[in-house]
Amino acid sequence: MKSVLSLSIVALACVSAHAGEVEVLHWWTSGGEAKAAAALKSSMQAKGHTWKDFAVAGGGGDAAMTVLKSRVVSGNAPAAAQIKGPSLQEWAKEGVLANLDATAKAEKWDEVLPKVVSDVMKHKGNYIAVPVNVHRVNWLWASPAAFQKAGAKLPTTWDEFFVAAEALKKAGVTPVAHGGQNWQDFTTFEAVALGVGGADFYKKALVQLDPGSVSSPTMEKVLTTFKRIKGYTDKNAPGRDWNLATAMVIKGEAGMQIMGDWAKGEFLAAGKVPGKDFACVATPGSANAYTFNVDSFAMFKLKNEANVKAQNDLAAAIMGTEFQEVFNLNKGSIPVRLNMKMDKFDDCAKASSKDFVATAKSGSLVPSIAHGMAVPSSTEGAIKDVVSQFWNDDKMDAKAAMAKLAAAAKTK
Ligand code: GAL
Repeated sequence: MKSVLSLSIVALACVSAHAGEVEVLHWWTSGGEAKAAAALKSSMQAKGHTWKDFAVAGGGGDAAMTVLKSRVVSGNAPAAAQIKGPSLQEWAKEGVLANLDATAKAEKWDEVLPKVVSDVMKHKGNYIAVPVNVHRVNWLWASPAAFQKAGAKLPTTWDEFFVAAEALKKAGVTPVAHGGQNWQDFTTFEAVALGVGGADFYKKALVQLDPGSVSSPTMEKVLTTFKRIKGYTDKNAPGRDWNLATAMVIKGEAGMQIMGDWAKGEFLAAGKVPGKDFACVATPGSANAYTFNVDSFAMFKLKNEANVKAQNDLAAAIMGTEFQEVFNLNKGSIPVRLNMKMDKFDDCAKASSKDFVATAKSGSLVPSIAHGMAVPSSTEGAIKDVVSQFWNDDKMDAKAAMAKLAAAAKTK
């Protein structure tokens, strides 16, 4: 008995000598998101580490980023934080991020990641973040029951979209479930820009912010089409959270929602089956294009050795095949790691995976502005504000909005 006891004490001491704590900042608080985050937590606990959850609610992460800034400024950074796209470079320049090269090398990240992703995860050639997934943003989610009630057909063009919206309205269903928050307004806007203008226009106008494309007849058409959608949303849309908008489609109270595939995580968490209880189609006019949103975690420099070890274990776990599968099955996204088996994934994810590869080849794989993938955060904030102002102000016409957009696009 005594020897068994002392043996288990030795074993325990071994685990705790390496066990550390990771405090992880994220904004995954909706049904599907929370299930996905739980997968990360349990993989850390399995390694003996303590997971300190630092969840800041608010889709799109604006609130989380505000909280993160104040924590870092006060010298109390978390071990890891969900930071994405060009913002990673902004944080790296502050000198507060840890170098993950040792883990990246041991785990062969350069070999198992698409280069378009690994480039974003590096600062001056060193890994400063680890990617989790690939979300497709240009999705339209639809309720087959609502469409049947309205005798409507799933749209593939914007003209068809408005025909379906009109039919849904006549059938007493809210045509478009929308949440009036600026990142959601912009998620709709960039889908319209991609569908109406095409991938080249999208890149020129919204990624390169080329003045001739920002102020153009195509942009005017994009703005007009975007604003027309508002007439098909309900009066409670302002301020609504995205997952509550998804719930309207889940219940058949609304016909459609334009949202990235984290919405699929909500349908699945509610026990709904793709192709039967809900439909996923590319937003109108964008079947041959793909707006990507890659979630990633940056690690902050820490002093405590056990916590540094825990941080590296977290980075390694995130890129591991097991985690990539279980996390993405819940999150609605697809693995970011190349050559993963997709047999457990549904048809929406399989289509996303196939289209990611095809559009990367054809040049129509574009970064999401709404989700912090394309432009510096200050520019992103300025153009998002104009788009939401235009959405909300029924007295502003498309020409006036375009002039404001041109000015905002110059924000450095
Ligand atoms: C996105 C994020 C997704 C999803 C969404 C809604 O910006 O990349 O993972 O969580 O916000 O919260």
